[in-house]
Amino acid sequence: MARDDKSVFEQPSAGNVTIDTPPNLRGAGDQTGFFGHPRGLSTLFFTEMWERFSYYGIRPLLVLFMTAALTSGGFGFERQTASAIVGIYAACVYLASLPGGWIADRLLGLRRSIWYGGILIALGHLSIAASIVFDKAAFFLGLILIVMGTGLLKPNISAIVGDLYPEGGARRDAGFSIFYMGINIGALVAPLVTGYLGERVGWGWGFGAAGIGMLIGLITYRLRADHTLGDMGVLPSSTDPAEHRRVKLFAGLGVAAIAILVISVMAGLIHLNPVSLAKKMGLVMAVLALAYFIYLFTLGKLTGDEKKRVAVIIVLFVFATIFWAAFEQAPTSLNLFARDYTDRKVFGWEMPTLWLQAANSIFVIAFAPVFAAIWVAMGKRNRDLSSAAKFSAGLAFAAVGFWVMVPAANMVLASGGTLRVSAWWLTLSYLFQTWGELSLSPVGLSSMTKLAPRKFAGQMMGVWFMAAAIGNLIAGLVGGKVDPEKLDQMPQLFQLTALWLAVAAVLCALLVIPIRNMMRDVPSTSRAS
Ligand code: PHE
Ligand code: ALA
Repeated sequence: MARDDKSVFEQPSAGNVTIDTPPNLRGAGDQTGFFGHPRGLSTLFFTEMWERFSYYGIRPLLVLFMTAALTSGGFGFERQTASAIVGIYAACVYLASLPGGWIADRLLGLRRSIWYGGILIALGHLSIAASIVFDKAAFFLGLILIVMGTGLLKPNISAIVGDLYPEGGARRDAGFSIFYMGINIGALVAPLVTGYLGERVGWGWGFGAAGIGMLIGLITYRLRADHTLGDMGVLPSSTDPAEHRRVKLFAGLGVAAIAILVISVMAGLIHLNPVSLAKKMGLVMAVLALAYFIYLFTLGKLTGDEKKRVAVIIVLFVFATIFWAAFEQAPTSLNLFARDYTDRKVFGWEMPTLWLQAANSIFVIAFAPVFAAIWVAMGKRNRDLSSAAKFSAGLAFAAVGFWVMVPAANMVLASGGTLRVSAWWLTLSYLFQTWGELSLSPVGLSSMTKLAPRKFAGQMMGVWFMAAAIGNLIAGLVGGKVDPEKLDQMPQLFQLTALWLAVAAVLCALLVIPIRNMMRDVPSTSRAS
């Protein structure tokens, strides 16, 4: 078990093999000016905090808005449809990190990718806000712009965080922990603001507030990046003009394909059914992942040791997908449960539905240091948990989180849908789910980095994103089951989710020892199982 598994709250950096880009801190100023960390970290911290504010500010608002009746300014969509759209949207955000990392590496460099990404996201929010006045097309165009912008911004901003610490090690881990706090501060405040404005004042205000957040992030980045980051991430790793042309061509073709698709849908030439689209996308991605693994094993020219490591990656991939399929129900099924069947009154005042979404981030901020300390303490006693063991724990925590919701849903069912249960049920559910997140998410990402065969390092990040993407799609597909018309399906959904998670936790636990045995002779520098 690799020691530095313990507190790596590393964020995704798809396609960016950061170790390959020597950082240049020239002009970057003070290296200890932000909680003992480089001042550049504060720039990245605040930019990402505001970007996440905008992302988590609208994601749960989407389902509420799309399912709201036309008379209350919504789209009046079926729950199933709205939830599937959110699943597709979130899955695309993760998938967009793959081209986003690639474009930064080969063409734009990290810094410009972040800048353009931020601009696209801000334009996306503007388009969504405008859709309140105009129509649906602007709304979906806005979502597409946010997907493209996030693909450019998110993986690359994490990559620069890594570059701030060329020496790696504990200081880098600490840097990522601070960065991760920024993410969660953004995700904590966002639903409080957009929930209040969107649900109480008007949808446009909620969406607009998220956009203003992204603008503040962009301005922060513009004003601070140059003098706090020096020339770090300014140049792409490839300076070959032929390569640049190729990337431009592919990116251009991609954007053109999206544009053609959007126009065809708007012109009514193609009729998209979100539910069946989500199903098809999930299937295609699963088949692609399978084909990719088969390719690695057969034509990837892997050594025996590398094959063993890839086998562990496959195991982690499958379990991560199952975890995200449950966890990402926060903005879909659990969000609908919060709106329709949860008593949100505090001292006689009813809080907005979205406020419950803040629970996850509150618990992350409270417990991330605790989990890090536990891993360190266990490591010191030479009792490090392997990633598979931590995954199993994560799945088990999430299983408890969903199991908690079963009695709550049953009470609602027994009342025929008239009862609103205490908000403590959801809060408790989120507490357990967050413990699951803290056991699985940071560990999974760092394991991918360590287990990846050298020449496939960037692609393994993609594998990790693929797991999150498929998980999000499933969460979107099942999320519409919280519906007054299908009340009996609600306890079943939570029960089934809990059951899946529990079975996965047990299977994963059973694999801990075989994996350990298999990895016994694999060189310890790369052994992260
Ligand atoms: N919730 C975190 C974020 O929004 C962490 C995360 C992102 C975890 C993507 C896994 C994949 O950044
Ligand atoms: N918990 C979500 C992400 O970690 C917001 O950080």
